Amino acid sequence: MTGIIAAMECEAEKLLCNMTDRMPTETFGGVTYFRGRLGKEDIVLATCGVGKVFAASCAAAMLLKYAPDRSINTGVAGAVGGHVRRLDTVIATALVQHDMDTSPLGDPVGEISGIRKIFFETDEALSERLASCVTAAGGHAVRGVIATGDQFVASAETKRRLSSLFGACAAEMEGGAIAQVCYLYKTPFAVLRTMSDGADGDASGDFAAFAEQAAQISSLAILSLFTE
Ligand code: ADE
Repeated sequence: MTGIIAAMECEAEKLLCNMTDRMPTETFGGVTYFRGRLGKEDIVLATCGVGKVFAASCAAAMLLKYAPDRSINTGVAGAVGGHVRRLDTVIATALVQHDMDTSPLGDPVGEISGIRKIFFETDEALSERLASCVTAAGGHAVRGVIATGDQFVASAETKRRLSSLFGACAAEMEGGAIAQVCYLYKTPFAVLRTMSDGADGDASGDFAAFAEQAAQISSLAILSLFTE
């Protein structure tokens, strides 16, 4: 079984409407879990809400309740790397939480206290398959680090910081939290995000204009993983 988590409904709807053999939904922690199939694969799909706490709560509940063999986070993000353009799709090599900062205590920025990890590596084989799905659909796939934080990134200065501190090529608000939960539960995971904006001064307008289109591209790539 594969678990799929999106933050917003527009990021999940294409997957939901293609699911077959639907089972009764279950709701807990404010999140509804949809079970069924995409192609031959058993799926549990949830829309977790925006931000790290919603994402972590949903991922932990999903892993405990349904024990999927692997987990995928899909949706939109802001482009941070200079080579990443709007509507490109980034398939993460690793996730970092850019707002985790105990540097006044002598730790590197981004290091998670207790487990001393900055980067959570994604499943390479699954991520490469997702990159092929994007390319096969005519999209532009980029592999790189995705930075997560409870912040909509909308300034050139923050972009520069994420790029220089972590080598990030995209910014979003859930993937790093899901990555940490998957790490704790020893579950392979991948994160695929299509760029709705450039995480710069134009980001809020671009997000409003392009989030739907970017969400379609990301969810179609996930769909093709199971159906083609
Ligand atoms: N999701 C989409 N665009 C984003 C941005 N600029 N910052 C954080 N999350 C995003």
